[in-house]
Amino acid sequence: ESFFQNSTSMVGEKVLVTAGPTYEAIDPVRFIGNHSTGKMGYALVEALLERGAEVILISGPTKLKLQHKNLTRIDVKTAKEMLSAATKHFPSCTGGIFAAAVSDYRPKSVAQQKIKKSSDVMNIEMVKNPDVLKSIGTLKKENQFLVGFALETNNAIEYGAEKLKKKNLDLIVINSLEDEGAGFGHDTNKITLLDFHNKTTKFELSSKKVVANSILDYLMKLKK
Ligand code: CTP
Ligand code: CA
Repeated sequence: ESFFQNSTSMVGEKVLVTAGPTYEAIDPVRFIGNHSTGKMGYALVEALLERGAEVILISGPTKLKLQHKNLTRIDVKTAKEMLSAATKHFPSCTGGIFAAAVSDYRPKSVAQQKIKKSSDVMNIEMVKNPDVLKSIGTLKKENQFLVGFALETNNAIEYGAEKLKKKNLDLIVINSLEDEGAGFGHDTNKITLLDFHNKTTKFELSSKKVVANSILDYLMKLKK
């Protein structure tokens, strides 16, 4: 059995995509963030729209712009906001692709006023954020697909396999920062796909748009 009716068109599919970084406030003027630009997630959204899918994009702060009649964009800043938007919209979707670079921790408290400099050393106490993808993985129904990303600097396949299992995914896109031209801010990416049958497929360095289409081609052939 397949997740998809045929292997070219995604008409009738409604896909939730998360993209970009999250910003976790420290005080009114500062935040904890990361280098994600959202390019990979937005390339996936474009590729999905070109195949006729409807897309719910939950986007962290990014300069990227995208408009389309089949696109609903929900802007969020924090992991908690991303979780509540994803939890609300995933049940009405046929699947999800989680490309956001979510901050694993957030400051325990947000100062109401700008923090003034004082001592030579400053500590910010952090607490763990919810894992948006893992939480959606527990909600996934038999006929829904779920794709995650894994950003690794070492032991990429092993760590990717753990995430696939722990988060109840069908497919994981493994990004190794050891690979030249891959990762933050680049227009290119080099990925390895690992599916729930434990099969790995390596791809050449390509533009993020080509990579997006490779991921969708693979997903559409993946059998349940
Ligand atoms: N993810 C998420 N919410 C989080 C953390 C991660 O939805 N709080 C998602 C990412 O969008 C990605 C996948 O989980 O699809 C893996 O993210 P990654 O940071 O590689 O893995 P973690 O599980 O956070 O583990 P670690 O950072 O410790 O390697
Ligand atoms: Ca993480």
